[in-house]
Amino acid sequence: MNISDAERIASVLESIKYKPALKMSEADLIVVTMCSVRQSAVDRIHGLIEKFRKLKTTNHKLQTILTGCIIKKDRIKFEKGFDYLVDIKDIKKIPEILNPSLRAKRNLGNYLDITPKYSSKFSANVPIMTGCNNFCSYCVVPYARDREVSRPAKEVIAEVKNLVRNGYKEIWLLGQNVNSYKDGKNNFSNLLKMVNKIPGEFWIRFTSSHPKDFNDEVINTMAIGGKITPYLNLPAQSGDNKVLKSMNRHYTIKDYKNKIEKLREKIPGIAISTDIIVGFPGETKKQFENTAKLFRDVKYDMAYINKYSPRIGTAAAKLNDNVLWEEKKRREKVLTEILKQTALGKNKKLIGKDVDVLINENRGNNYFGKDKHYKTIKVKSDKNILGKIVKVKITEAQPFTLKGEIM
Ligand code: 5AD
Ligand code: SF4
Repeated sequence: MNISDAERIASVLESIKYKPALKMSEADLIVVTMCSVRQSAVDRIHGLIEKFRKLKTTNHKLQTILTGCIIKKDRIKFEKGFDYLVDIKDIKKIPEILNPSLRAKRNLGNYLDITPKYSSKFSANVPIMTGCNNFCSYCVVPYARDREVSRPAKEVIAEVKNLVRNGYKEIWLLGQNVNSYKDGKNNFSNLLKMVNKIPGEFWIRFTSSHPKDFNDEVINTMAIGGKITPYLNLPAQSGDNKVLKSMNRHYTIKDYKNKIEKLREKIPGIAISTDIIVGFPGETKKQFENTAKLFRDVKYDMAYINKYSPRIGTAAAKLNDNVLWEEKKRREKVLTEILKQTALGKNKKLIGKDVDVLINENRGNNYFGKDKHYKTIKVKSDKNILGKIVKVKITEAQPFTLKGEIM
């Protein structure tokens, strides 16, 4: 979402003839898109403020803006460190904020209407909704990005069509909770079907999903396949029902596992990842063991494991953060070990198979990419294959990467 924010800001700035600077020290304007989800990201802002202060001693023209996901308390804390604080919903006003006589040359509309300046030439983030109504007790997003607003399907389709026309190979449909997308006429499943019908060679991915809203209709739509890739990130957050209740998640582990079972039945071989928080306030060793059990039972392909950190203003911040950091680290390690085993088990089965890989990065002639199942695959090539979909035979498997040879 931060990348998507930055792409929109770049577009607004281009409309008033700003150009990207090669180095921070050469910039006349620095816009920081902040993320409040974890404290570590917030802490980095202090370092940036100090850096900007030094830059301003040699570059008197430099102006700085803070935007993105900012909560009230941080807003007050960082106000003095930046020339301007701009709400993410108001980024189209940046031209006027910088110079009241300046107005954006194009009619930029609302946040979601702004055509972004895409940072990649082959993979694009297309926000379909923004904000969140869920108030998971640990999460700052509903405070930082406000309530859910969905973008009309017509606009999403027009943006994707334009991207595909321009050769984009991977389209990420983005939102804090994509499964609750509704534009008055269409739900998420309808939108997915419409995007799937757009002609061209491209892959569809989406994030984030919420197990309470991820329903049979979406499963059936994913099962159509076509451009919809067989990969799903379904954040469980915890494997314990009591912890889930305290997190305000509105599902049980039984519900969650049923959904995974249906997915695997309808889409054989689908890759599944999850987000997990370890050390939520009051999480006992026994409750954590339920999360470890969930990992062993589901056998994830990938997991994003987070150590709980209290976020001011959220309901959980009022609870006693009683799990020691060392214990959180231990729990993270236990889950990582299980994940390594399950992921390796799955990856080994891919040895000898041929897969399509969208190459998205290179270091010399080592190229990296993702297959349809969102597995990271490394290949060697003397030709520049960045941004291409290539056929690869898998030769080696590790827990989080596969090696292959271009066919
Ligand atoms: N502490 C730790 N992890 C968090 N996440 C969100 N809020 C917190 C928090 N306070 C994690 C969740 C979410 C991911 C984006 O970040 O797992 O899915
Ligand atoms: Fe945060 Fe929960 Fe909303 Fe996700 S669904 S953004 S975790 S409040």
